[in-house]
Amino acid sequence: MDLFEYQARDLFAKHDVPVLAGEVIDTPEAAREITERLGGKSVVKAQVKVGGRGKAGGVKLAATPDEAVARATDILGMDIKGHTVHKVMIAETAPEILEEYYVSFLLDRANRTFLSIASVEGGMEIEEVAATRPEAVAKIAIDAIDGVDEAKAREIVEAAKFPAEVADKVANVLVKLWDTFIKSDALLVEVNPLAKVASGEVIALDGKVSLDDNAEFRHDWDELHDKAAANPLEAAAKEKGLNYVKLDGEVGIIGNGAGLVMSTLDVVAYAGEKHGGVKPANFLDIGGGASAQVMANGLEIILGDPDVKSVFVNVFGGITACDEVANGIVQALKLLEDRGEKVEKPLVVRLDGNNAELGRKILTDAAHPLVQRVDTMDGAADKAAELAAAK
Ligand SMILES: Nc1ncnc2c1ncn2[C@@H]1O[C@H](COP(=O)(O)OP(=O)(O)O)[C@@H](O)[C@H]1O
Ligand SMILES: [Mg+2]
Repeated sequence: MDLFEYQARDLFAKHDVPVLAGEVIDTPEAAREITERLGGKSVVKAQVKVGGRGKAGGVKLAATPDEAVARATDILGMDIKGHTVHKVMIAETAPEILEEYYVSFLLDRANRTFLSIASVEGGMEIEEVAATRPEAVAKIAIDAIDGVDEAKAREIVEAAKFPAEVADKVANVLVKLWDTFIKSDALLVEVNPLAKVASGEVIALDGKVSLDDNAEFRHDWDELHDKAAANPLEAAAKEKGLNYVKLDGEVGIIGNGAGLVMSTLDVVAYAGEKHGGVKPANFLDIGGGASAQVMANGLEIILGDPDVKSVFVNVFGGITACDEVANGIVQALKLLEDRGEKVEKPLVVRLDGNNAELGRKILTDAAHPLVQRVDTMDGAADKAAELAAAK
């Protein structure tokens, strides 16, 4: 999970990384009072999970509270690289910035270690610096057991050739930032710029943090989730423990196991070419050992996607028995109809593997007008694509 800048700022503050005051708002007028509290001036910063906001016009200085309201009005609703700005941070203005550095810690998967990247040429995008002046970017491996103590921090400071007058301060920030990285189970903490200001202090003016979702069970990250951005069907699926991904085609896909679902996407896309370029609309993995109830939950989500014109249920019974799946389909349709949700989308079902015969019989006996059985994967994909194209 990637954090917004204001969330990264809060996390940094909690771990004593020097940051400036800031508050996040979603209506322009709220900028006035905050700016007054910050001494009459502020910086209005778009909160979107993408870099280069400054260049895109999403970071603006405001010299008065009125100006802060005006800048917040400009920035809220703006589109930055495909991200709509729903929130802005009203931040304290840094004292005169003398230099801008870059520091980060990340997981280096290729080398199976952690890595620090640091440069005295921060401010702009580090990828650009790395491409044009690779000698200006220091990369130092960090042992997971030893971590970053003061000595290690000094090693980073020296490798990146930080000026002597900020060496202590930068080393101190690095130790605190490492603390943030480890205690938060982060995959990335990045500060760009780490600014040297007129007073001689170094301050984290921008932060990017990516947390390891696998570690969520041992943290309280509820309020960090960006509920506004989540697709409502994705959220509903997550709540029911289902893996659902929205795509942009027309055929809804339910399968058991990620491997089967992935190949189903390919087969449907391939079959769709014969039917005017029909493509998968989504991806729902009901997992191994899926019960009738799980099938019902999955169907409800897939049928709730307005882009879906037909549904392809592709199940290879292993732990999941096909008769359970077939019952799930029959029960799910009944459940939805009982609720007054009219199901009008055709379903193509392919059942194979464990208890396939019984599963097929259940579907045949139920004789639901919307359900068609096709017993091969290619044949079923073709049928589903054809039905989607006909709608
Ligand atoms: N609180 C602040 N006070 C003064 N200048 C700032 C402040 N925050 C950011 N800036 C300036 O704006 C630039 C871009 O802001 P930043 O937060 O790094 O956004 P991005 O990296 O998305 O462009 C920074 O390099 C810095 O020069
Ligand atoms: Mg930045």
